[in-house]
Amino acid sequence: MLKALVLSGGTGTRMRPLTGTIPKQLIPVANKPIIHYVMEQIASLGINDVGVIISPETGQAVKESLADGGRWNLNISYIVQDKPAGLAHAVLTARDYLGESSFLMYLGDNLISHSLGDMLDSFLRGGDDSVVLVKKVRDPGRFGVAVVNDNFKILRLVEKPERFVSSFALVGLYLFNKSIHKAIEEITPSARGELEITDAIQRLLEKGGNVSCSLVRGWWFDTGRKEDLLKANRVLLDERSERKVEGVIISGDSRVEGRVQIGQGSSIAGSVVIGPAVLGEGVEVINSYIGPFSSIGNNCLLNGVRLENTIVLNHSSLTDKLYITESLIGRHCHITGGAATVDMVRVNLGDWAEVRLSWV
Ligand code: TTP
Repeated sequence: MLKALVLSGGTGTRMRPLTGTIPKQLIPVANKPIIHYVMEQIASLGINDVGVIISPETGQAVKESLADGGRWNLNISYIVQDKPAGLAHAVLTARDYLGESSFLMYLGDNLISHSLGDMLDSFLRGGDDSVVLVKKVRDPGRFGVAVVNDNFKILRLVEKPERFVSSFALVGLYLFNKSIHKAIEEITPSARGELEITDAIQRLLEKGGNVSCSLVRGWWFDTGRKEDLLKANRVLLDERSERKVEGVIISGDSRVEGRVQIGQGSSIAGSVVIGPAVLGEGVEVINSYIGPFSSIGNNCLLNGVRLENTIVLNHSSLTDKLYITESLIGRHCHITGGAATVDMVRVNLGDWAEVRLSWV
């Protein structure tokens, strides 16, 4: 039986400061943790057994969020990777769990619109040792890329090519049979000290293995940086949000327009909310304008603010003549404007941050 291996270790340095207290994979996009989308997609493929790689530092939070996987009808096992020594090292760590099974490896911070059914079918029918998902990109120099022949068989992989060799970037999703384990045993750490999965696939090719690629046609986000996260939030709200405002007190001259979802126990007073947007439970919005592409977590207070294109996590308050855009705001943050003039603010705040703005 095919298994899945979801990588949810790593350090998330590019997403600091928020990743100081919350694993990257648990940051919400459209109010749902990224890794929950991954689990939904794995479940939709009919895979039951999922190994989740966790780190000693953030593993507990991941376990609390996913539990035993029952809500997706998945059977989750947790595997601790003692240090973030690379994607191939994560596979090595999961060696006993994977046994002789073929497996789908999915990076826990990646979001893909594409249905993976075709890729899976061609792997199960085609006799390849590996199928990797690739996306045509305009800036291949930032990625690991695959050089392919006319039949989409991979000839070689090149990490961050300086000269153009291919525009097919490797997306964080791979199918392997057990031959990958032998290839991993035969590679050494790269210059950055990690066991790289691209080196392992390259080794597989050198040993005569068959590796094909499958092209992503929809969107794919590697949510490694704040900008990527906000873009993923915009696209998911745009494509998937629906209107749902039951159990919400809407008073004064408030207007709630378009595809807006607001959780139970929330109240909107003297405010305008324009979708696509999602507000969690127990959110209080007073004298504010909440614009498109806003995702606001549970128990937040927004009073006298204008906000758009922003992710706010649970228990934060934004008050007093603020105009916030393109921002990522952690849990329990408190931002106060208190100015005579409203100016635009862009912030990237970890949990428990306090900001008081004053204008001169
Ligand atoms: P990356 O984004 O490449 O690494 P990272 O999470 O450490 O982030 P940064 O580069 O900003 O420090 O990792 C991709 C995914 O794989 C992510 O979900 C974390 C996971 N991962 C592991 O589980 N183990 C590892 O050894 C590494 C490197 C990553």
